[in-house]
Amino acid sequence: MKPTSLCPAGLRAAVLLLLLPAGALAAATPTAGTFNILSMNVAGLPAILNSNDVPGDKATNARTIGAKFAALDYDVIHVQEDFNYHAYIYETDTHPYRTATSGGVSFGSGLNTLSNFPYVGFARTKWATCSDASSNDCLTPKGFTFMRVLVSGATDNDTAAYVDFYNLHADAGTEDGDNVARQANINQVAAYIATWSVGNAVLVFGDTNSRYSRTVDTAIRGLLSASTTALTDPWVELVRSGVVPTAETLCANPSTTSYCETVDKVFYRSSPLLALHATSFAYASSSFLQANGSVLSDHNPVQINLAWSTATTTLRQSALSGGLTGTWFSDAPILAGLASKPKPATLTFRGASRLDSVGLTLVDGSKLAHGGTGGTAASLALGVSEYWVAARLCRGVKDGNTRNFYILATTSAGRTLAAGTATGDCTDFDAPAGWQIVGFAGQSGDEVDQLSFVYAAR
Ligand SMILES: *[C@@H]1O[C@H](CO)[C@@H](O)[C@H](O)[C@H]1NC(C)=O
Ligand SMILES: *[C@@H]1O[C@H](CO)[C@@H](O)[C@H](O)[C@H]1NC(C)=O
Repeated sequence: MKPTSLCPAGLRAAVLLLLLPAGALAAATPTAGTFNILSMNVAGLPAILNSNDVPGDKATNARTIGAKFAALDYDVIHVQEDFNYHAYIYETDTHPYRTATSGGVSFGSGLNTLSNFPYVGFARTKWATCSDASSNDCLTPKGFTFMRVLVSGATDNDTAAYVDFYNLHADAGTEDGDNVARQANINQVAAYIATWSVGNAVLVFGDTNSRYSRTVDTAIRGLLSASTTALTDPWVELVRSGVVPTAETLCANPSTTSYCETVDKVFYRSSPLLALHATSFAYASSSFLQANGSVLSDHNPVQINLAWSTATTTLRQSALSGGLTGTWFSDAPILAGLASKPKPATLTFRGASRLDSVGLTLVDGSKLAHGGTGGTAASLALGVSEYWVAARLCRGVKDGNTRNFYILATTSAGRTLAAGTATGDCTDFDAPAGWQIVGFAGQSGDEVDQLSFVYAAR
């Protein structure tokens, strides 16, 4: 039954707006959102090497694929086998953030990303193992890529929703050598995730060349294991009721059902900083046909819709400041595992001409510290009801790489602690209302190459 309203919806909205504190609209940082992704092997090997059983001219088909990427406006697209017709895809596609090609076949990996969201830290990694047992996997340096994508879009820096995206193209074929290489490939990605995505939400999608129904392909099952990367396959989750299949169900191309299994797979996980969940799985095959109905690729493209939220997490994160050197760290897993709400008792920074380290001791005695031992230490003890609520970071260039040169912390009592040397390139970070800074995530070595702040409710 529709309730009778004494107040029309438009007027109610206007009243709500008036009740918001001044500045709340300008600083409207999203705490939830949705986006979609597409994984597509674009069959871009030179036609004389491999027709991929796709009718028509490969350059024309590549232009059509690019035009569809633009028209359907997927938020993040991973392509594989994007070798010799790459320029035609980019000619008709319009995504604002795209990776530069690593080259045609024999030079490149065929992996590229087309995104509506900005990203940092893009890196290409070559497989340590390849096999020519049944197809020419060693002909070109295949592997995987990494990027940290700002799925919340360009916000105000105070809070940021990042997801680590991995694209991959594993070894093909089912000879013994292929199977061994493919297992090594998937395990190589898992090991990378364990180092470079500690504490982070993750999305892995690409051409795994693996099937659950092939008993030798155990590595993709390993990705699902809680004791390793703890990823979820949205096809298993949403289409197969959470049951990893053992019986083979091959897909037609184009596929009219999502029940069948393809080698193009998606895996994801949440983090203590960001809840991520898949809301739908589909083969987007009918959206990727030539005008006369023929396919554009020998693979069915995979489309997933996802929702993210920081509204339900106990921790949040600021935007990252700094460069790409150093090794990734995150205090989020430790903070999420504490028995009591975290609150810093003492802040300790080290600095001189640059920022050497950042650290703090929580009320429960836990110590968090990142960076080196250079510079001079400075500490500030916080009162029982005093919180760390704002920070400024300034950047500079050392040995050709951007790092953080300066930090200024401000507490709820207006007291400050600084270290390092201020520059003209600074960003200010304010904890969301009712929240406080309790830790860090970023990249460090001898110094603090990259830094973001981890927040918890007070
Ligand atoms: C569609 O067009 C392509 C390119 O002209 C051609 O090779 C293919 O055979 C056609 N498919 C059908 C089903 O007619
Ligand atoms: C975030 O910080 C960077 C670096 O200071 C700045 O260029 C950018 O404009 C900031 N973004 C917003 C939305 O304020």
